[in-house]
Amino acid sequence: MTIGIDKIGFATSQYVLKLEALAHARGQTPEKYTSGLMLDELSISPITEDIVTLAASAADDILTDEDRASIDMVIMATESGIDQSKAASVCVHHLLGIQPFARAIEMKEACYAGTAALNYAKLHVQQYPDRKVLVITSDIAKYGIGSAGEPTQGAGALAMLVTKKPRILAFLDDNLAQTRDIYDFWRPNYSTTPFVDGIYSTKQYLDSLLTTWEEYQKRQQKDLSQFAAFCLHLPYPKLALKGLNKLIPKEMTEEASQRLRDNFDASITYSRKVGNIYTGSLYLGLLSLLENSQNLKAGDKIGLFSYGSGAVAEIFSLQLQEDYGKMLRKDRMADLAKRSALSVAEYEKLFFEEANVTDDGNATFATYDTGNFALKSIQQHQRIYVRK
Ligand code: HMG
Repeated sequence: MTIGIDKIGFATSQYVLKLEALAHARGQTPEKYTSGLMLDELSISPITEDIVTLAASAADDILTDEDRASIDMVIMATESGIDQSKAASVCVHHLLGIQPFARAIEMKEACYAGTAALNYAKLHVQQYPDRKVLVITSDIAKYGIGSAGEPTQGAGALAMLVTKKPRILAFLDDNLAQTRDIYDFWRPNYSTTPFVDGIYSTKQYLDSLLTTWEEYQKRQQKDLSQFAAFCLHLPYPKLALKGLNKLIPKEMTEEASQRLRDNFDASITYSRKVGNIYTGSLYLGLLSLLENSQNLKAGDKIGLFSYGSGAVAEIFSLQLQEDYGKMLRKDRMADLAKRSALSVAEYEKLFFEEANVTDDGNATFATYDTGNFALKSIQQHQRIYVRK
């Protein structure tokens, strides 16, 4: 039975910070960000647009009534949790009107958890072929004002519907993971922003890529020439490009390596304008590839490298299905162009605003632009969401 991704939805915030403006404010040349990191803009979410509203908006756009009746599991991968106990997917399940006899859970391992969620979804559909699983990656990446990671922040969610006979991509069942207990990027409960050993994290990313790739090739008897494209986790596109350059063997033909590089460029188109969205970054890269590549065709295989600090890495591949083009959008850049641009002062105020919760557990918020859903208030320590 073929199992895979039948639909993909994406949502990001309605505000944007141009990195040229941030560079001027931080005393850097804009080229350090646009060329050194290969990032141009960051999505900035206000307090009323959290991982729940982003996730619900990403999924709402792609689900039919029939999907809502057939989904019996909602898995949310995130590292921007809003509660230590209740899973954000429970709120999303309610907002989306998914039938009640469903399981809703949250999964965590830094940026990697979406990949684990897809694996669990695949196993579920294998067992119950007529059911569907909604996998959502939703995160708000905040490093803090003036930090080295500041130009790599972002906000967004991807929703992927996992089914049998998928119309976009099929899983090829060749996953290989690697776990190593390190502290390259982590966020203890008492901190709202992560601790990061930046350069060490880039070395771990690249080393995890190379060592997992070497073992994957041995076990799967595959090499890079079998892939039309290779998507890598995108904390910032320049690191992924370094990774791809390390994978391309010297003996590869110029034509084959150029195709991989062209498809890499297609895969970073959206991330250049959104920034790092942690669990969703790899899958935003995949969506960007599918919607912007000039040379993909049904049957092509796409390799993926998932990396979450801490660290877990995984390499696996997907195969493009016959009618994949019909399931995609070609006008997503227009949505991104509609976001309201913030000055650096506005960004500092908006992105780092904290809820002012009274002793009784209540908070209200100013009105901000959001997607289809918004966090309206906090009442007696409970988060109140509304469909707009
Ligand atoms: P930095 O200060 O930008 O580092 O911090 P840099 O000074 O090395 O500059 C970066 C690049 O810009 C360099 O290019 C410079 O040469 C270039 P490279 O040598 O690497 O090719 N540059 C310029 N280029 C053109 N014109 C100029 C110019 N000036 C400099 N004028 C750092 C980089 C990664 C440390 C920082 O962004 C950071 O801390 N980021 C957060 C951590 C991160 O993203 N790590 C990535 C691996 S870990 C990961 O992927 C997991 C993660 O997503 C979290 C999770 O799993 O949950 C982060």
